[in-house]
Order: sequence, then structure tokens, then C-alpha cells
Amino acid sequence: MASVFALSELRRSEAPRSWIDTIIKGDCVAALEALPDKSVDVIFADPPYNLQLAGALHRPDQSLVDAVDDEWDQFASFEVYDAFTRAWLLACRRVLKPTGTIWVIGSYHNIFRVGATMQDLNFWILNDIVWRKTNPMPNFKGRRFQNAHETMIWASPNPKTKGYTFNYDALKASNDDVQMRSDWLFPICNGGERLKGEDGKKVHPTQKPEALLARVIMASSKPGDIILDPFFGTGTTGAVAKRLGRHFVGIEREQEYIDAASARIAAVEPLGKTELTVMTGKKAEARVAFNVLVESGHIKPGQVLHSAKRRHSAIVRADGTLSSGGDAGSIHRLGAKVQGMDACNGWTFWHFEDGETLRPIDELRSIIRNGLAKLD
Ligand SMILES: C[S@@+](CC[C@H](N)C(=O)[O-])C[C@H]1O[C@@H](n2cnc3c(N)ncnc32)[C@H](O)[C@@H]1O
Repeated sequence: MASVFALSELRRSEAPRSWIDTIIKGDCVAALEALPDKSVDVIFADPPYNLQLAGALHRPDQSLVDAVDDEWDQFASFEVYDAFTRAWLLACRRVLKPTGTIWVIGSYHNIFRVGATMQDLNFWILNDIVWRKTNPMPNFKGRRFQNAHETMIWASPNPKTKGYTFNYDALKASNDDVQMRSDWLFPICNGGERLKGEDGKKVHPTQKPEALLARVIMASSKPGDIILDPFFGTGTTGAVAKRLGRHFVGIEREQEYIDAASARIAAVEPLGKTELTVMTGKKAEARVAFNVLVESGHIKPGQVLHSAKRRHSAIVRADGTLSSGGDAGSIHRLGAKVQGMDACNGWTFWHFEDGETLRPIDELRSIIRNGLAKLD
């Protein structure tokens, strides 16, 4: 079982990491108060939608639709809902690391109000994602379009934040080498994944699909990161975070949902290190300058480097520059100069002798990078 904390047991000054991989029982604004500043990497929030349902909803066969009519989704007015939204967003921003990001999911009932409040509070919207449902509920009365999507806002805590995680290359590679778009297609949560009670009824009216959370977490976090969900419900965020080798912290008011989430998360087996390694592109690789090759002895001062077909050659100097026929400069500058060009990638232009063959010095840079990666 995942540990469950009563709010009264948590104090901000307590053992710093005691709240990680736990579910905190209580109101999220009060619970967030007990967490340290700048301590979580990603927040996924699925707040009450404030559906404002006017009476029961029936199908054409007169059966009752299991709509969200729970007390936790009721607010006296838009003003009350907006004040609540402001309070939890501010509490979330305090615990979010400056390099972290927040996702908020909602429907047309609340997402515009939430989005406006986020902008008023100076969150910086990075994307809005449309989750298009492959199997949405019909519009039974036939008086409006079928409501077939929900919207997720992805934002950083303020306009100046830099360095947030976005696993662009992995997303692209997983999408047949095409940039991942902002419209995502997933079914709603049903089948074996949907938690049901002994009476066969759904445990929760708005359980989100794990596939949706998996993409959110894979896109915006790294293994080992902490993912917070202030409206935990059945713990979809916690279950997916654990499977993907991330930590979670959930906040939820209702004991019934906490019990369901806790059992669900306990049954999850995390994936192994190999499966969880995130693919990165050139931009994410450690910067290794040419002089590191010289300092580490992979290239020696006085050694001669050549272009691929030996048309050009240069001597390596002890300071990590190259010289050739009276010219000197960096591997890039001298590579460009000897060819009469404006620019050159010295890593692929210059080669070292390996027995009879010439190999690009980029291969030596890769050896150093691999060594650095093993230290991580
Ligand atoms: C839309 S549901 C989230 C469902 C969840 N994403 C899942 O997959 O199961 C919102 C949840 O927030 C909880 N909740 C509502 N107001 C809350 C509050 N002020 N503090 C903590 N939890 C709250 C509700 O009990 C409900 O379970």
C-alpha cells in the first residue's frame, strides 16, 4: 500500500522527504502549505470541473447517466470557483521548482476560467493540448455537438523560466519521426483499467486514462522526478508515475478514493532502468570542447589531423588549437579557412590516423561523452 498521511501529521519543517510517494489526506490548499518550497518537478492537476448540472441526465432508453454530481464538484458561483482556483494555483506555484511545469486538465465548463486565472497569476502557457476522445459519450438530447474532447494547459511558473524538461527527441522518435502535435487521440478510461467497486459501479466518475498520463509524464519529466497531483482521485498520476520510475505525491479529500488509489499504486511494478532511459538529441548531449580531447590524451600535441581524403592537414597545438600553413584557429575556424568556406563542423571535418584508416575526431568526443554519461 502507498503510505497515507493525515494533514495534521505533516509539518513543513519535518523530515524533508517524508511526503514523497505518499497520499496526503485533506484539502489540497492546506496540504500544499505543508510541503517545502520549490520541491516538485511536475504538477498534474485535474480539478473539479464545476459542471453545474441542472437535474439528472437520462439516455433515450430512460437509463440514468452516471454523471459527475458529487459534492466535491459543486461551487456556489463562478466567483467562488475562481477564488478556489486562484488559491490552489498559488499554492502549487510555491512548491513547483523554477524549472518545473504544471499541467491542468478541464472541459469547457472550467478550462477557460482556469486558463484566465493562470495568465492573471503570471503562469506562462507553453501549449494547450486537446485530448480527443476516440469513444466519447453521445449528446443524448441531440441539441448540441457531441462533446468529444478535453483541454490540457501546459505552463511554466512564470514567463522567464528556462530549462524545463521537454523530451522533444523521444516524443518525435516515438511518433514515427514526426513532431508530436498538440492534438492527442486516446480512448476514455474503460475496460479493465476502470476501477469498479464490489457493486460493479465505477469507483470514481472522472478516472483518467493511464495512456494520457503516460504521455504527459514522458513528455515533461525525467526518471526520478517528483510528480505532484493535488486532485488525486483514484491515483492515476501516482500509478503511472511509479510505473515510469518517477516519484509521486497525491492529495485527496475523500477516503474512498484514497483507499482505491493506494491499493492500485501498490500493485504497480516500476519498469527497469533500460526501458526508462529517455532518448535525447544532439542538443541535450554534454558539451565537450576539443581541448578536452587534448587534455585527456586522446589527441596529442604535435599530432597531425587530416581531412577525409587527406587534401588538408593541420598540427595540433598544446593549447587545443590547430595550425596549418601559417594559419591557426579552432578546429571549426581552421577547417573553414583551409576550404575557403565561411563555416565548418571541425568535429566531422578533421580525422585522426587509426592504423591505416582515418577516423573523424567526433568518435573521440563520443568516447568522452559515454564516459560522462556513466557518471550520471
Ligand atoms: C476530477 S477528479 C480527479 C480524478 C483523477 N484524475 C483520477 O484519474 O482518478 C477531482 C478529485 O479532486 C478531489 N477534490 C476536490 N476538491 C478537492 C480539494 N479541495 N482538495 C483535495 N481534493 C479535492 C475530488 O474528491 C476528486 O477525487
